Amino acid sequence: MRVLVTGGAGFIGSHIVAELIGRGHDPLVLDLAKDGRDVRDPHAVAEALAGVDAVCHQAAKVGLGKDFGDAPGYVSANDLGTAVLLAEMARARVPRLLLAGSMVVYGEGRYECLDHGIVRPGPRAESDLRAGRFEPRCPVCGADLAPGLVTEDAPTDPRNVYATTKLAQEHLASSWARATGGRVISLRYHNVYGPGMPRDTPYAGVAALFRSSLARGEAPRVFEDGGQRRDFVHVRDVAAANAVALEAMEAPAGVTTATGPAGFTAYNVGSGDPRTVGDMAEALAAACGGPTPVVTGEYRLGDVRHITADSARLRYELGWRPVVPFAAGMAELATGQAVSFATGP
Ligand SMILES: NC(=O)c1ccc[n+]([C@@H]2O[C@H](COP(=O)([O-])OP(=O)(O)OC[C@H]3O[C@@H](n4cnc5c(N)ncnc54)[C@H](O)[C@@H]3O)[C@@H](O)[C@H]2O)c1
Ligand SMILES: [Zn+2]
Repeated sequence: MRVLVTGGAGFIGSHIVAELIGRGHDPLVLDLAKDGRDVRDPHAVAEALAGVDAVCHQAAKVGLGKDFGDAPGYVSANDLGTAVLLAEMARARVPRLLLAGSMVVYGEGRYECLDHGIVRPGPRAESDLRAGRFEPRCPVCGADLAPGLVTEDAPTDPRNVYATTKLAQEHLASSWARATGGRVISLRYHNVYGPGMPRDTPYAGVAALFRSSLARGEAPRVFEDGGQRRDFVHVRDVAAANAVALEAMEAPAGVTTATGPAGFTAYNVGSGDPRTVGDMAEALAAACGGPTPVVTGEYRLGDVRHITADSARLRYELGWRPVVPFAAGMAELATGQAVSFATGP
């Protein structure tokens, strides 16, 4: 399959290119950082689409920006960029799109109250955080809530400009599928980590910050009580999910596949092995031979306490299996040394 990978020079995109080559496909890269070609440039996109069977759209402006003044830049790169790409795909009759989605479209995680069932807690009160009471509370009765797994059917609730642009990309792609009969799979990635992860950017998140501290010989500083639950998924597993989804869309139109004959399907992409931020700091510190992480009790207003995905749909419908275990992946991230681990079903 000839696949145009937009953003193919980036962290995740470069792993996708390697994975596609390894599976005998023929990836082409369009990336601003590689050669200045921009997904917002219709001529560059039209040229790049010649002879292409599918597009894997990873190019995006990532992160949170400094302030609201950055909003036009995010909307331009992510949503105008996607619209230009889709218009050119319609013109060139390229029928398959793999979209890099994100868990940020869900906003908060899923929580359950023993008495009130599934509830949507608002932001945590500063008085609670100051008192070291970090678990979100039931909006009805104030009881502690149990965190659960977010499924693809959860309501979307983007909480910032970046999240809004990631959701708009899905809506644009879905409109394109309806208008052209094309197929779209959006892979909503959880916290992606691994080799090539950018350093010390807010989006690369806490794993990169911990690793940088350890490299300086300093203890990683863990906020709250370290009990924040996340799903850390390895970038090679994410790349494999992209390849599997592209291959699933390859069946000719009219042939029923797991993804259905046409249209839009979203899949969460997580390891299925939720860990806490404290676990991650300990795994990285262990791999570096210390120093031991410090739990500081600091907090940032607006931080999400827990968010973990249910990736069962991707496993059952497309047969994808993450293979990089948490400890091995974190050891590789900490030391920069590839680790060997059993690959299995
Ligand atoms: N890293 C994560 O944990 C994570 C989580 C959820 C979703 N995502 C999504 O995955 C995708 C890849 O993210 P990443 O972490 O590899 O980021 P990255 O910044 O490493 O890669 C993005 C690439 O896109 C390119 N790009 C940006 N704007 C472009 C444009 N207008 N035209 C052409 N190329 C452009 C950049 O040059 C860069 O190489 C993004 O769509 C992002 O929203 C990432
Ligand atoms: Zn309740």
